[in-house]
Amino acid sequence: MNTPPPAIKSRQSLKSFRAFLWSVRMFISKKVSFRSLTKYRQSFQHPDLIEGVRGIDPASDIAAHLSMLFFFTVDAKPRLIVELGTRGGESTRALLSAAVVSNATVLSLDIEDCSGLDLAHRQRWHFVKADDIEFGKTGFAKWCSAADLKPEIDVLFVDTSHLYEHTKQEIAVWSQLLSERGVMIFHDTNLGRGTSARLGHLIGHGWDNQRGVIRAIEEFLGKHYDESCFSRTWQTDFC
Ligand SMILES: C[S@@+](CC[C@H](N)C(=O)[O-])C[C@H]1O[C@@H](n2cnc3c(N)ncnc32)[C@H](O)[C@@H]1O
Repeated sequence: MNTPPPAIKSRQSLKSFRAFLWSVRMFISKKVSFRSLTKYRQSFQHPDLIEGVRGIDPASDIAAHLSMLFFFTVDAKPRLIVELGTRGGESTRALLSAAVVSNATVLSLDIEDCSGLDLAHRQRWHFVKADDIEFGKTGFAKWCSAADLKPEIDVLFVDTSHLYEHTKQEIAVWSQLLSERGVMIFHDTNLGRGTSARLGHLIGHGWDNQRGVIRAIEEFLGKHYDESCFSRTWQTDFC
């Protein structure tokens, strides 16, 4: 009988043990990617939104929120929508799609020149290159009068520096310009607490901005939000 010597036998079992470990790793990694694919998938349903967001980068920091931004904007039945922070215009696309449904106008602001963006529904769009605090204090009313619009904002979307002092100023200046039923929507209220995930399956660590945005909101509303668990409503606090 050809029994392998003990040294060869143990090398063979080590090899098969390694192969076993490898297949377990492959199985686990397939499972994770499968789960993340299912969990973070988003689909757009409204034809104006589908047209508006065509070609956006699914791995961007805001892609996962565009349906919600569209929904809450339409829900506000806006005439005038103002966006603070334009950059590549991803939120702009969702806001413009909502503007089509609502027969509204979108005014976007950025400290950089974003006027050349290639956007669907562009006929409803105006862009102003300005510091948002300065423009809110002095330029907005004049701009509205020149555009023959009531200087009242129905949806204000804030997505700029995410710094506490700046957000505080934005709220102080721009909340005065809201219509009676106007709403404010903020991006990146919960940064810096551990891991973040995006639609494009990017997993990373948040930027710890010392709760810059949410702290400014909390002071404005006189509420505290515990971001370590899921929210119920903004009025009755988090769960
Ligand atoms: C996070 S990006 C906006 C992303 C954009 N909402 C989107 O979905 O693609 C932030 C933008 O805010 C702009 N920004 C920062 N400080 C600003 C200020 N004081 N006034 C106006 N824009 C400002 C920056 O130039 C930058 O383009």
